[in-house]
Amino acid sequence: MTQTISSKAFYNMIVPLIKDVGAYQRSRYSKAIKVEFKGDINLVTEVDKKSEALLVSAIQKQYPDHDILAEEGTGTRKDSQYKWIIDPLDGTTNFAHNYPLFAISVALEFKGEILAGAVYDPLHDEFFRAFKGHGAYLNDKPIKVSMVGQLSKALLVTGFAYNVKKSQDNNLCHFNNMIFRSQAVRRDGVAAIDLCYVACGRYDGFWELNLYPWDTAAGILIAAEAGAKISCFNGSTYSIYERDLLVSNNKIHKEMIRVLKMGKLPMKM
Ligand code: IPD
Ligand code: CA
Ligand code: CA
Repeated sequence: MTQTISSKAFYNMIVPLIKDVGAYQRSRYSKAIKVEFKGDINLVTEVDKKSEALLVSAIQKQYPDHDILAEEGTGTRKDSQYKWIIDPLDGTTNFAHNYPLFAISVALEFKGEILAGAVYDPLHDEFFRAFKGHGAYLNDKPIKVSMVGQLSKALLVTGFAYNVKKSQDNNLCHFNNMIFRSQAVRRDGVAAIDLCYVACGRYDGFWELNLYPWDTAAGILIAAEAGAKISCFNGSTYSIYERDLLVSNNKIHKEMIRVLKMGKLPMKM
């Protein structure tokens, strides 16, 4: 039987590695950088690429037989039971516009389940982490979801995928519905951070459509270990390979599902 990687082995490797990549990102923040377009509004910068190269090469060196799924496409498939899932820079649009919120997200999947996750916000020096069954932490302090019990008192966050101008299923109807029923809705542009902010009680709920495994893999484990409820919009079981995600402090989950069920009609541009 394959032995799983221990929490100690995971953290010993990932904490210094991600902090180094974070220091590199800090050094390039707000400086002139090369930006390319992956789509009309989907950017990639030289910092995304270099960060991914640093993460992938370090993981490959330590675990040459493991699979790696990385957003910018430099991962490798070895048909291992282990898969590292990497978003080297979550919040690229923020980074490119000098908006001070972005993160590095790394998760480890074992036999199809997320075993460990780490999300680092280098500008605020906030390191979120979790290992399955061992709780969730922010800078070594345990974290928990909020106690807010009603949607009308809840601070929510959402995001919009890069196909927002093209897809009919563009989340604007849900945004509209939630704005009228919650205390407020934010849009920070960093899905990994949105999930970690639910985990530590800064947000009470988060929903988004069309996310990718690298956006959510680490953050959903951190949120789950902090007591969050995680599902698809209709309440069914979420996996990182699904496209619709609802995360809350549990207490407002049913109310959020009810609101998400209302909003099938797409908004016209
Ligand atoms: C994006 C961010 C954003 C979300 C987008 C993602 P990227 O990731 O997580 O919050 O709304 O759907 O694609 O491109 O900055 O890594
Ligand atoms: Ca992302
Ligand atoms: Ca990214």
